[in-house]
Amino acid sequence: MARKIIIDTDPGQDDAVAILLALTSPEVEVLGITAVAGNVPLELTAKNARIVCELAGRPDVKVFAGCDRPLRHTLVTAEHVHGKTGLDGPKLADPVMPLRPEHAVDFIIDTLRAEPTGTVTLCPLGPLTNIATAFEKAPDIVGKVQEIVLMGGAYFQVGNITPAAEFNIYVDPEAADIVFKSGRPITVMPLDVTHKALTTAPRVQAFRDLGSKAGTMVAEWTDFFERFDKEKYGSAGAPLHDPCVIGYLIQPDLFQGRHVNVEIETQSDLTRGMTVADWWGVTDRAKNAMFMGDLDADGFFALLVERIGRL
Ligand code: RIB
Ligand code: CA
Repeated sequence: MARKIIIDTDPGQDDAVAILLALTSPEVEVLGITAVAGNVPLELTAKNARIVCELAGRPDVKVFAGCDRPLRHTLVTAEHVHGKTGLDGPKLADPVMPLRPEHAVDFIIDTLRAEPTGTVTLCPLGPLTNIATAFEKAPDIVGKVQEIVLMGGAYFQVGNITPAAEFNIYVDPEAADIVFKSGRPITVMPLDVTHKALTTAPRVQAFRDLGSKAGTMVAEWTDFFERFDKEKYGSAGAPLHDPCVIGYLIQPDLFQGRHVNVEIETQSDLTRGMTVADWWGVTDRAKNAMFMGDLDADGFFALLVERIGRL
């Protein structure tokens, strides 16, 4: 039985690979894709989500535009990583498929109300603004969520947009605070695990060797956005953050983590958006998140290449 998911996203090259992985994997059924402002402004994330669906040959997928700014702060974007379009690298045609008219938040609410309780998993890949807004607008839907599997945060890897915070959480810490206090099962793919999913040259070559449009696209996206991380971390490739969320849904045993308490810093400017994970259990705070710390990177990329190869 395929797992029903809603992907909430701010494409972003790594979001794009995550969406391709979901659309080509029978283990998940994408009920809809909701765009949020993050890597680039909402107009572009909503456009990019449709470009990726068309690349996957899936113009039927429902794509919605959501919140165009965080709950409290002004929007911080990441063109320095993803380029001006958010999908820099290959040349891409504008999408033909339309956006659905409903607001993304209303789609999330309506879907959770319509589907049986505990059968829909939310997969946020960007700032948590849409999710938090839906929970605030319709508190009755919170208990209906099966699980939230998100990319965001960091503990041992600390920050990538500030010394203390990871981008998705930093952009909208108030939204993250609402989600992490929701009481629903949360599985977190923080930088601690995504920094081990590096797009090394042989792995990028494996995508290119697929000889398909999708494989070449993934290789060109990776070539573009890894230049930032390789320079910053001196690493042998860029972390392929968001596909870890979908990879977990398909093959959870690729990942290892610890069920711990995670709370979000929302008061301090210095540490805004920090995910304070009680990894060593030094407090008696309630454990609210499965915080991933390790993955079988070769197994993860083997899965990715095999699935992208199906497109
Ligand atoms: O910090 C990495 C996260 O921020 C990823 O989701 C990337 O797409 C950006 O949204
Ligand atoms: Ca993202």
